[in-house]
Amino acid sequence: MSGLLFSGGTVVSAEGSYRADVLVEDEKIVAVAAELDADGAETVDASGKLVMPGFIDAHTHMDMPFGGTVTADDWATGTEAAAAGGTTMIIDFALQEAGGTLAGAFDTWTEKAHDKAVIDYSFHVAVTDLRDDIKAELPDLAEKGVASIKIFMAYKGTPLYTEDEDLFEVLQLSKDAGVLVMVHAENGDAIAKLQEQALARGDTAPRFHALTRPEPVEAEATNRAIRLAEVAGAPILVVHVSCAPALEAIHLAHERGQTVYAETCPQYFAFEYEDLAREGFEGAKYVCSPPLRDPRNRPALWNGLKFGDLQIFGSDHCSFDYDGQKDLGKDDFTLIPNGLPGAEERAMTLWMLGVREGKLSENQFVAVLSTNQARIYGAYPRKGTLAPGADADIVLWDPELSTTVTVENRHGNVDYTPYEGMEFHGGPAAVYVRGGLVYGDGEVVGERGSGRFVGRSFTATEGLEVRV
Ligand code: URP
Ligand code: ZN
Ligand code: ZN
Repeated sequence: MSGLLFSGGTVVSAEGSYRADVLVEDEKIVAVAAELDADGAETVDASGKLVMPGFIDAHTHMDMPFGGTVTADDWATGTEAAAAGGTTMIIDFALQEAGGTLAGAFDTWTEKAHDKAVIDYSFHVAVTDLRDDIKAELPDLAEKGVASIKIFMAYKGTPLYTEDEDLFEVLQLSKDAGVLVMVHAENGDAIAKLQEQALARGDTAPRFHALTRPEPVEAEATNRAIRLAEVAGAPILVVHVSCAPALEAIHLAHERGQTVYAETCPQYFAFEYEDLAREGFEGAKYVCSPPLRDPRNRPALWNGLKFGDLQIFGSDHCSFDYDGQKDLGKDDFTLIPNGLPGAEERAMTLWMLGVREGKLSENQFVAVLSTNQARIYGAYPRKGTLAPGADADIVLWDPELSTTVTVENRHGNVDYTPYEGMEFHGGPAAVYVRGGLVYGDGEVVGERGSGRFVGRSFTATEGLEVRV
């Protein structure tokens, strides 16, 4: 017998933790059982480690044009950073160009990814220009394995912005097209007005990015999107939920029995509004949307993850260099490209601030990083589980691993890290994609171009079957 035997570890799934060995053959898991006897298989000593299904990050922006520039990480460095954080598959946003088609977005992103990705990948398509031919094209996405589309309610004045009329029609069409609609929920009109007024007053510093996107602006748009989905009779997913008032709208929808999925991100736990007010122009390193909030929001967000109003934890990795990109907004905060790197730190942040602090169990950790992501986005059971027949995407998690983050030991291509100097306890010791080692001993060893496209399919269901 050939293959790979992960021996002596503790398997941690979304449902429970137990001592078991994991046998892998031909890129797939073939057995999970105590004391497996696998003559001829190469043995990986997993003792002292937690054996988890590879993490899925369904919120990344690699090689994406945005804010007058292009994200600093391409599909090589971006997926290397993700792999170093325990992620074995990303789902990235392929943007429809103004005047372009959805197939065009899919093809452009395939071109960017196929010879660079070191881990598996899939795409959401961001619909930005809902013409009649695009409405007719929506069902073709499902055939391509694209099970989710994104609509931006924010960023008014850019090609990304979508009016309610189009959001509503996309929601109506999505049910028959077999795709899940995801929303960036912030009120674009209110933000545009607040920004205009701030600049007129001479308020140009990075912290005004947050002050012109207050919590009710997110809460209002979250509630509006959810109610439009209710009218359309469609499920919906709200990405990057940052604050308690937005979460409250989601919780109320769940109380009504509406199918609303929701994501939060590491930056809302690791950082806060005060980081935007750092000396000089340093605050630009913390400009993302929705913005960093007052930490009083955190207990509600932890409860959201714990009790299932928030089912997934994505990085929203959207990296821009400080020199040459963030500084486009030196004299005007509205020109600072929005986004933070975080794919590498996503799981470590959740482990340290969530599991170690007793806010989440190790099983909830696996649920929101892997299993729920695979279930919601239609990649389960190929991904998101350690069960016979699944892809052998495996993280050996070391709860004792210590890492002090600095830009020099990051695997992405950004000239700073917002996590600079932070000390983490717990991290990935080794990461395998379809049975092949992609990360170990602090080094990415996966070959660029070895990642494969994963087609997904979405089935709308009543209620929240992924609620944990
Ligand atoms: O600031 C952010 N989040 N940038 C990425 C684009 C988006 O809105 O997700
Ligand atoms: Zn967004
Ligand atoms: Zn994003």
